[in-house]
Amino acid sequence: MNRKTFYITTPIYYPSGKLHIGHSYTTVAADAMARYKRLQGYDVMFLTGTDEHGQKIQRVAAENGVTPKQYVDRIVSGIKDLWRMMKISCDKFIRTTDDEHVACVQKIFKVLYDKGDIYKSEYEGWYCTPCESFWTETQLVNGMCPDCGRPVERTREESYFFRLSKYQDRLIKHIEENPDFIQPVSRRNEMLNNFLRPGLEDLCVSRTSFDWGIPVTFDEKHVVYVWIDALSNYISALGYLSDNDEAFRRYWPADVHLVGKEIVRFHTIIWPAMLMALDLPLPKQVFGHGWLVLEGGKMSKSKGNVVDPVILIEKYGLDAIRYFLLREVPFGADGVFSNEALISRINSDLANDLGNLVSRTVAMIKKYFDGLLPGQGEEGEFDSELKKELLGLKHRTEELLDNLQFSLALTEIWKAISRTNKYIDETVPWVLAKDESKKDRLAGVLYNLAESIRIVSILLQPFMPETPVKIWDQLSIGTDETGWETAGQWGVYKPKPVRQGEIIFPRIDMEKELESLSSAAPNPGKDGSAEKDEKKQKSQDAEGPASGDIRQISIEDFAKLDLRVAKVIAAERVEKSDKLLKLKLQVGAEERQVVSGIAEYYSPEEITGKTLILVANLKPARIRGIESQGMILAAADEAGGRLTLVTVDGDMPSGAKVS
Ligand code: ME8
Ligand code: MG
Repeated sequence: MNRKTFYITTPIYYPSGKLHIGHSYTTVAADAMARYKRLQGYDVMFLTGTDEHGQKIQRVAAENGVTPKQYVDRIVSGIKDLWRMMKISCDKFIRTTDDEHVACVQKIFKVLYDKGDIYKSEYEGWYCTPCESFWTETQLVNGMCPDCGRPVERTREESYFFRLSKYQDRLIKHIEENPDFIQPVSRRNEMLNNFLRPGLEDLCVSRTSFDWGIPVTFDEKHVVYVWIDALSNYISALGYLSDNDEAFRRYWPADVHLVGKEIVRFHTIIWPAMLMALDLPLPKQVFGHGWLVLEGGKMSKSKGNVVDPVILIEKYGLDAIRYFLLREVPFGADGVFSNEALISRINSDLANDLGNLVSRTVAMIKKYFDGLLPGQGEEGEFDSELKKELLGLKHRTEELLDNLQFSLALTEIWKAISRTNKYIDETVPWVLAKDESKKDRLAGVLYNLAESIRIVSILLQPFMPETPVKIWDQLSIGTDETGWETAGQWGVYKPKPVRQGEIIFPRIDMEKELESLSSAAPNPGKDGSAEKDEKKQKSQDAEGPASGDIRQISIEDFAKLDLRVAKVIAAERVEKSDKLLKLKLQVGAEERQVVSGIAEYYSPEEITGKTLILVANLKPARIRGIESQGMILAAADEAGGRLTLVTVDGDMPSGAKVS
């Protein structure tokens, strides 16, 4: 094997809860890059994984009444499912709880200790006893614990330290001499001016106040503290310091570590210093991308459906979501995620520009040539301009992808798609079709369209794992006609019978869709707090779906509601919420789970056994991470602060229809 290698990584994710669409941003970008390099013929190593140790995980697990390992096992399996669903083509998934990783970190710690780059001292900081957490001066909020708001005490803890300060000058020199090392440039300047030049302090790298971590082999009351553990994954995954370090020798140094902007500092200061201490070469590049935020602010799980990647993929398809993530925002900058922006991208770029081009081309080949073009046809006006645009596309796309400019690369591809659509307007095939003497020119036009689509579809592969195959299927483009290199050649397509398939990107009715999303989601992300999400859900439960501006509805509108008699068979409070109850309902033969904002008015005991009315065909929503399959009816006296459930008179079986 002497193929050129390409090693790319994502950060390893904290499995402290389900991932939102923002998390998948880094992974989708890394996946596009990995696919691109494989298509070019590189021997690619694409690594992702999970960062499973630390006090926070230990605490969340305890709150859930399970061991930390049980807790992370469950979350990690969900994360793996998500990556499978998103067709993330990683070559390895590392968990920091893997034995190989643990052994590697222990060896690294020992090597650095023996060398004198790790030494024992005391860590002084502010300690919050109830939270068992150390905080630095700057982390405190009004002098109190930033987590619980209670007073903190000045305390000392025995700790090991890494001699970060020793590497300051070498780091500055490396960053100054290697302009590509930190990208984009703005992040490079930030690191130099805000962190490196003012001076580095040694870094605390062990803890004794919790034990969910990798034990220090020569001092077992210490566990290795976060960054040494987490960053080492990039080499432990390759077998560094193990009996089999073939992958390490093959792939290290990494070509690019993709990371979010908030962890660029750790990857460009601590990590290279660690590598220098280990006498290892530094990664060629650390690329810090921006954040995907919602209109109202930072993304969080309490924002419900709108940020749940599984729901978004089920609704719009994987390729549409991947396209949006990579197209909407220049890679590096922050960007806003909104349903409106997503749907308008789907409609204009995917359904209109690309989808229509494919379906019109296939339809015309069917209509005018009975599904089979006779060959390359006759050349004519407008051809050279089209060919020029399409033949330069591969090179332009590669240049941009080599700099991780996904959005600009897609913009180039879409310019070519627009150029091809314009070619249809210029050549007016339906006019040519009326003239039997122009039949060969008509064939030429349609061939050029198919050939343009072929080129575009090859170049779309890094971004979209599903669409190119659908296009090849419709135009009967063979595998020998889709090699990456052939995207730079004209005349490769050998006509075969086409078949009109399904529409690859159906148009979405924006208004309807936004309405359905906002009724399905606890909150489409206009504000920040989970508290507000809850209130909104409560008022929804209380007022019913006909609230708002609609004063009158037709009988047909009413008939759209599937109202059913339902019996409460179990009820419990939703953790950490004083407003929500989780109800289990019997609805005929079916069981339903509904989350309702009635906990202030009904206790679980009171409500169990009651016969209620359920809106049974409401789209499921996620409230506090719990699926709610419908809504129960209640009457609210807002002024009097009362709320009572709508119950059924007499003895009706559950499942009975209400009208
Ligand atoms: O930081 N938009 O893990 P993490 C864009 N375990 N990117 C986002 C995002 C958003 N809204 N939300 C999260 C950690 N990310 C450490 C890494 S590496 C040795 C250890 C990105 O789960 C975030 O920027 O908090 C980061 O790159 C990644 O998700 C993992 O975040
Ligand atoms: Mg984070």
